[in-house]
Amino acid sequence: MNDTFLKACRGEKTDFTPIWIMRQAGRYLPEYQKVRGKVDFLTLCKTPELAAEVTIQPIDILKVDAAILFSDILIPVEAMGMPLEFHEKKGPVLAPAIRDENTVKKLSVPDPEDKMRFVMDTIRILRKELADRVPLIGFSGAPFTTATYMIEGGTSKTFLNTKRMIFQSPELYSALMDKITSTITEYLKAQINAGAQAVQLFDTWGGIFSPQDFKAYALSYVKKIIHDIRKWQKAEKSEPVPIIYFVGETAGLLEEIKESGADVHGVDWRINLDDAIRRLGNNAVVQGNLDPIALFLPQNKIEERVKDILSRAASAKGHIFNLGHGVVPETQPDNVIALVEMVHRHSKR
Ligand code: CP3
Repeated sequence: MNDTFLKACRGEKTDFTPIWIMRQAGRYLPEYQKVRGKVDFLTLCKTPELAAEVTIQPIDILKVDAAILFSDILIPVEAMGMPLEFHEKKGPVLAPAIRDENTVKKLSVPDPEDKMRFVMDTIRILRKELADRVPLIGFSGAPFTTATYMIEGGTSKTFLNTKRMIFQSPELYSALMDKITSTITEYLKAQINAGAQAVQLFDTWGGIFSPQDFKAYALSYVKKIIHDIRKWQKAEKSEPVPIIYFVGETAGLLEEIKESGADVHGVDWRINLDDAIRRLGNNAVVQGNLDPIALFLPQNKIEERVKDILSRAASAKGHIFNLGHGVVPETQPDNVIALVEMVHRHSKR
């Protein structure tokens, strides 16, 4: 098996730098559009055979070194009891938004094998179909990023309702976060049980906080999840599964992120990778950090940036190449294919 990705996560020496791409299964691929043309997004997430099919597409097309489960961070929110819809223009809509004690009380902590069985079934199919070609990454939203969608009722620019709840009703926020944190912990354990070989927590909106607030209102819950998963794995005597923690707008928060307990830290493009490594400590294993829009450059310019990132990563204990955030739908697939080839070629040791 190509286990280069897992080795890099553990900080072991590898023959080349592994690469996968956030949102690698998605609308920029005509092959994805073809499947998606037949069903809506949520149906795609909930049909294990189809979700497995689009998960594998980028492995065949791009030759990336890891597969990431096709699903969405809002699936567990629906399982907690909030009706979820995806609108073509508006994106996700969750209604009614969580704003008071009553709505928090109504939320449940679901049994993942019951309410999200389709996710575990997708993982089980994928492990069979991948047949150890590349490792499979499971994922969840981190509690804070998940909470923003629940409190705002969808995507937001200012996160005013979320911050207002945190500052004006801290007990309500804490009660909500306890439920979300338990849900995500159980959800990730179930994914690992079903066969996920690494898991990533997405904290896309962590960067809206001051470092102090990030620590209190986002990071503390992530630390709890990671601690509980490790404790559970120790008790089960199972091999530890690498945990990746990705925070958007990473640069102002590295000293806090460093304390997460994750094996790998995602870094976005707003900071040089060597700078981020210095601040995370030289034992850090990092993932990143090409600007997704740099894929719109001519290929020779993409190549310069690949070489630059690879050389800046030299001081880390491990490096997994990725974008600093998800690939956007307008991206040319040929440039993504070229990126993967360049990373492999220039990092060969
Ligand atoms: O990375 C992968 O290839 C795996 C699949 C995956 C999706 N979403 C599929 C998806 C993953 C890991 C996610 C994570 C996710 N979802 C995040 C965190 C990472 C990030 O990008 O910041 C967030 C914030 C969401 C919530 C979400 N899902 C929004 C806001 C939207 C609408 C905006 C958009 O990008 O379309 C989605 C929809 C979504 N999730 C699509 C895909 C492929 C597009 C749906 C479609 O086919 O129409």
